[in-house]
Amino acid sequence: MSLYEGRLFINGELKTAKSGETFPLHSPVDGRLLANVSRAAQEDVDAAVEAAEKAQPAWAATPAKERARKLRKFADLIERNKAKLANLDTVAMGKPLTGALADVDEARDFTYFMAGLTESGVGQTSLNSPEHVNITLREPFGVVASIIPWNFPTNIWTHDVCPAIGAGNAMILKGSEKAPLSSIFLGQLCHEAGFPPGIVQIVNGAGDTGALLSSHMRIRKISFTGSTNAGKSIMSAAAKSNIKDVSLELGGKSPLVVFADADLEHAARLAAFSFTFNSGQVCTASTRLYIEKSAADEFKKLLIHAVKKFNLGDPSNKDTDLGPQVDKVQSQKVRKFLDIGRKDGKALIGGEAATNVGPNYINPTVFTDLGDDSDVSRLEIFGPVLALHEFDGEQDAITKANDTNYGLYATVFSNNVARALRVARALQAGTVGVNVASPYGAYELPFGGYKASGIGRQKGNKAVEHWTQEKTVYLQHEW
Ligand code: NAI
Ligand code: MG
Repeated sequence: MSLYEGRLFINGELKTAKSGETFPLHSPVDGRLLANVSRAAQEDVDAAVEAAEKAQPAWAATPAKERARKLRKFADLIERNKAKLANLDTVAMGKPLTGALADVDEARDFTYFMAGLTESGVGQTSLNSPEHVNITLREPFGVVASIIPWNFPTNIWTHDVCPAIGAGNAMILKGSEKAPLSSIFLGQLCHEAGFPPGIVQIVNGAGDTGALLSSHMRIRKISFTGSTNAGKSIMSAAAKSNIKDVSLELGGKSPLVVFADADLEHAARLAAFSFTFNSGQVCTASTRLYIEKSAADEFKKLLIHAVKKFNLGDPSNKDTDLGPQVDKVQSQKVRKFLDIGRKDGKALIGGEAATNVGPNYINPTVFTDLGDDSDVSRLEIFGPVLALHEFDGEQDAITKANDTNYGLYATVFSNNVARALRVARALQAGTVGVNVASPYGAYELPFGGYKASGIGRQKGNKAVEHWTQEKTVYLQHEW
């Protein structure tokens, strides 16, 4: 028996997969069975696409102010169900409750923002020719899809679904197999908010279910957030099927540069938070730190002091800073990196799994004395592990920070305004923090990657526009 709802949400109803197949979802804290989750196969995805195709034209023809009103109602329901939503993410993936509640708050606020943008869809006008008034129209794609990861299941859900349906699309979302519960519940809340059946549908399953979406011939856009490898598969499936529009938010190995002229205590505190927040499972986490040589000794002391303050424990306890990693697979992956780090360098703090707390817990870890080519310095670990390097001069810092194929978020700490701006411009990343580090972000501004960290942008004042395609219309009025 499932403790939590694990069915698919298709055409306005909770449904088991047609095959009856399920997969188990276990707690990362104590291993108990949380739900038997329905696994969607081709026939389930086809049923969702059919329902979406049926519902979408009337939805797109609904006045924008009514679509916006439903989004506001949905945001109200997110607020009313805050405790339940936060709990679903905490039990499924071990996210500390304080963070889960903050995610729900942002999801609500972002949804209100999308409601406003839904009402401001405008195109261009050209009067360049005396005989013509030429215009562009923004139109929805039709049936679209989203595949989301498990690290911010509620938040990222709204980042894709709300602008997409605001623009008049019908959305089929696949939640992560590691945190599917909030996705299903958010689908139900959309129904309660009055979105017609077929406009928001939720399928569950792993990568093979995701591939059914990315390769579907009647889905016209797909947005994906997750690992770079899965992103490559999705882009290639889109290319091999119907050239659907693709938007990717992928991984990172974000650099954080601290100059000796910075407020070192402030920098150490924010750096410590950045690589440990959400138990280190954040795409923008600052996991490569570059400290100017002359300040390295003092900074290391401050960093150790900041890291020591974090509590590991039960994620449902509000004093917990770090919960377990999302599951056994993930915690074992992080442990392998700890082994590499101890071999290639030295642990300044941490360096071991926190088996005294629970099987999937990892102590926040800072490695020093690593080569730039160590896997700990180069690869996305997705755990609370920081590689600390030293640099000598501004150009050395920039070269080292940019020596990666990723480009999601970069940070510079300096009290010299000219230097901070020079370095901010030189850093190759879609977001740069100056005297502030990730996870800081502002949803009214765009978010996305340079280089292999992604394609396209989410959030920001073009969020709804990104879920539309542009049509040019020529109108001749004199002949
Ligand atoms: P993943 O990228 O494999 O999974 C993310 C989502 O994509 C899930 O919904 C999954 O079912 C789906 N998916 C996986 N393969 C797919 C495919 N071939 N076609 C369509 N959909 C597919 O990430 P996973 O396995 O959960 O974690 C593995 C690693 O990925 C982590 O250790 C971390 O390094 C990275 N990751 C990065 C994230 C980010 O935001 N940058 C988020 C989650 C994971
Ligand atoms: Mg995977």
